[in-house]
Amino acid sequence: MSRSAHPAGPRHADVLPEGHYSGPAADLNELDSKVWAQTVTRDDDANGVVTVGGIDVKTLAERHGTPAYVLDEDDFRQRARAWRTAFGHDADVFYAGKAFLSRAVVRWLHEEGLNLDVCSGGELATALSAGMPADRIAFHGNNKSTDEIERAIRAGVGRIVLDSFQEIVRVAHIAQSLGKRQRVQIRITVGVEAHTHEFIATAHEDQKFGIPLAGGQAAEAVRRALQLDGLELIGIHSHIGSQIFDMSGFEVAAHRVVGLLKDIRDEHGIELPEIDLGGGLGIAYTSDDDPREPHEIAKALTEIVTRECDSARLRTPRISVEPGRAIVGPTAFTLYEVGTIKPLDGLRTYVSVDGGMSDNIRTALYDAEYSVALVSRRSDAEPMLARVVGKHCESGDIVVKDAFLPGDLAPGDLIAVPATGAYCRSMASNYNHVLRPPVVAVKDGESRVIVRRETEEDLLRLDVG
Ligand code: LLP
Repeated sequence: MSRSAHPAGPRHADVLPEGHYSGPAADLNELDSKVWAQTVTRDDDANGVVTVGGIDVKTLAERHGTPAYVLDEDDFRQRARAWRTAFGHDADVFYAGKAFLSRAVVRWLHEEGLNLDVCSGGELATALSAGMPADRIAFHGNNKSTDEIERAIRAGVGRIVLDSFQEIVRVAHIAQSLGKRQRVQIRITVGVEAHTHEFIATAHEDQKFGIPLAGGQAAEAVRRALQLDGLELIGIHSHIGSQIFDMSGFEVAAHRVVGLLKDIRDEHGIELPEIDLGGGLGIAYTSDDDPREPHEIAKALTEIVTRECDSARLRTPRISVEPGRAIVGPTAFTLYEVGTIKPLDGLRTYVSVDGGMSDNIRTALYDAEYSVALVSRRSDAEPMLARVVGKHCESGDIVVKDAFLPGDLAPGDLIAVPATGAYCRSMASNYNHVLRPPVVAVKDGESRVIVRRETEEDLLRLDVG
């Protein structure tokens, strides 16, 4: 699902059609700063071991074991701050907690001045327990339970994003019964086909999220919300999908959302004060991906919304965005130990690692592309075409489908897959009763476990039969 093109059929260096595949990077020891966290470097004085946050990966593996997600705290904070600064004080940045959430992350976000988007009772509990002020939390989801809605309203969340006609009534009713008036936005689907994997595109009409603009449904939702005393309608929300590079989808979405704001003004005589354009900005998983910087995105989105509002003679509403992947994705890599290695003649070499689809389901689920590098030492051996696979009982258990690794790779070497900060730990499972890896934050030469490794005791504790 990244945009990198890959040829069909067997991909051994010897059998690749010429001009069809770029082949291995000139030097496999080079780490492309586009896909690695900012403090990652290779230490050529120490046999080429890779360091991050001032600690080398061998030390990290000894201290914390493998597999492990290693997260560069400075990089996370810098990316969060870059989004915050780019949008300035007239806009809000809600970090999308679904990408990865832990209490440490909540505290960093709080300190860096970001807000938080949560989409379940569990994420809400994590946010509140780490001290995120409730009024800086937005609560999302297409099927929030009555209990979740009640908890969110009692806590005083800044906004609930309404996703269906039933929810409009339900939230209004619960708010009223608690003697509150809840600030809400209505999530609409604007009918844009985002250029991304089908499973993570969310603005076309034939899917479960939002209320379609088409056929006047969104306008009807607004009418109903405005009639209910328990609700204060503050704006319209649109999220068009995820891992998107092309700004044109946002342009169309903004145009249509502003069109609805104009219709609301014409019908009800009110100008809603906010517009939320969701998240979805893509990151580099391989060197072929070229993501945009937050300041470019902020400039483009602000210009689009301002232009659309000017031509509709509306006051420009306060903009909010909800980046998840673009903040946390590039800040972490997964550190694995190499286990068995199987060269298949004329095909490729299968390199097994001590994790797999339980710590990264994205390759199997979305055909996602990743990069990989040998990180415990440098190697000048000939590149070999490899497939990095996990330890699960399933042949689709692939972490990196096609990658070049040094031909002298051996069991016990450490390899790392970059850009796994988003949607890897948060989508991790216990498939085959494999234990979920820890998240280790590194900074200034120190490492700190922020989510500990699961243990067999954890598994057995849930098994009460
Ligand atoms: N806002 C809303 C309402 C969302 O539904 C999402 C993501 C975001 C913001 C954050 O999107 P981001 O900036 O992270 O792209 N599991 C998939 C991604 C699912 C995204 C779901 N919604 C993956 O691994 O690619």
